[in-house]
Amino acid sequence: MGKMGSSSIHASGSSSMVSLSGSIIGVLLVLISNQMAVCNGGKTSTFVRKAEKATDMPLDSDVFRVPCGYNAPQQVHITQGDHTGKAVIVSWVTMDEPGSSKVLYWSKNSHHKMKAKGKHHTYKFYNYTSGYIHHCTIRGLEHDTKYYYMVGVGQTARKFWFVTPPEVGPDVPYTFGLIGDLGQSFDSNRTLTHYERNPHKAKTVLYVGDLSYADNYPNHDNVRWDTWGRFVERSTAYQPWIWTAGNHEIDFVPEIGETKPFKPFTNRYHVPYRASDSTAPFWYSIKRASAYIIVLASYSAYGKYTPQYVWLEQELPKVNRTETPWLIVLMHSPWYNSYNYHFMEGETMRVMFEPWFVQYKVDLVFAGHVHAYERSERVSNVAYNIVNGQCTPINDPSAPVYITIGDGGNVEGLANSMTEPQPQYSAYREASFGHAILDIKNRTHAHYSWHRNQDGYAAEADALWFYNRYWHPVDDSTGA
Ligand SMILES: [Fe+2]
Repeated sequence: MGKMGSSSIHASGSSSMVSLSGSIIGVLLVLISNQMAVCNGGKTSTFVRKAEKATDMPLDSDVFRVPCGYNAPQQVHITQGDHTGKAVIVSWVTMDEPGSSKVLYWSKNSHHKMKAKGKHHTYKFYNYTSGYIHHCTIRGLEHDTKYYYMVGVGQTARKFWFVTPPEVGPDVPYTFGLIGDLGQSFDSNRTLTHYERNPHKAKTVLYVGDLSYADNYPNHDNVRWDTWGRFVERSTAYQPWIWTAGNHEIDFVPEIGETKPFKPFTNRYHVPYRASDSTAPFWYSIKRASAYIIVLASYSAYGKYTPQYVWLEQELPKVNRTETPWLIVLMHSPWYNSYNYHFMEGETMRVMFEPWFVQYKVDLVFAGHVHAYERSERVSNVAYNIVNGQCTPINDPSAPVYITIGDGGNVEGLANSMTEPQPQYSAYREASFGHAILDIKNRTHAHYSWHRNQDGYAAEADALWFYNRYWHPVDDSTGA
């Protein structure tokens, strides 16, 4: 009986297992078919924010205040001035007269003042004439050193400081900030303040394009380029911002006779493009600490045989991951974007360059343009050859993570309409203003965090560890 009972229990157990397996398979089939029908990707944040229109700060706002004193230098900003971080380009504007284009500088450890001589120029845009724009490159700096510098020498002088990066090397920790599409609204000011107060204390901003949004004003009123320069000076005078050109830098207005694209941007913002053998300031590269940063131009030709294509083809093999493990690309128009804004605008450049990004194992690609936040899985979409039908992004451990960080807070407002369902490749998306921090620890690990403006300064709304594609290419995606 006992045996029979046992057998009976066993038999009945087997039949339960069969029916259980059947139900599991059934549930799995339902799940799979749902997945196929809905194909939901990662997380769409349900964060609720106040729906209010972004408004530009008025001209008499304190952040636009002209510095005191006759012909005082204003709109002071710095960027890296060579390929490895031993030079800095210092730029500023004087309004009343040219004044001096010299920069006086000295290291924290020395009272010996050195002088570098720059140049100045002006430009006209329709009925606007710029102030005297000065650019001066300081070379031969020591690595990892605090320097003070003074502009407006011999007139109303203003003093600032910066810290040079450590010597380039594979395990050099370094912290970058990421800001895009900033503009000059009240929200822009919140974003910049949150960036400044972020306890991660980033040392350089990787800026993904669309600066002043002056082109939203009648005749692209270039006074709004001046106000933007004064607004961001509190950061740009003290740490380098690495510039990427966006569509709001094009300023192509043939109806008022302005036919030279990027005129205000190229006059005001110089970049060290020649140091990376580039022939135009819209695409170039720099090394900084353990990172190799490539800046690409969404609004310059990138088809086969074009200067940018040829440059990138020659540039990627030059990246030595033993020297700079982290390969980061900046561009304005994102390739992987699941918002209804600028949908597929980055597609033509993706078709041209994505196979190289996979081949050379780019770690991270940052873009702006879409006024929201999105982070992708590690995906590629490079198999399609026009007849094979293989045109779906697939998980790919050699592919970069694509991050859209165009949520600086400009006057055009948030991109809050998303494509539905969320595609598989999209890991996290949210329509909130904010900025991000990339905190590189060594050749294998980098901590990444995105910070929305509504949170406290230390809060991380989206955060994860990225593992280097060359040195530690294990799966670091969250939704796969
Ligand atoms: Fe844009």
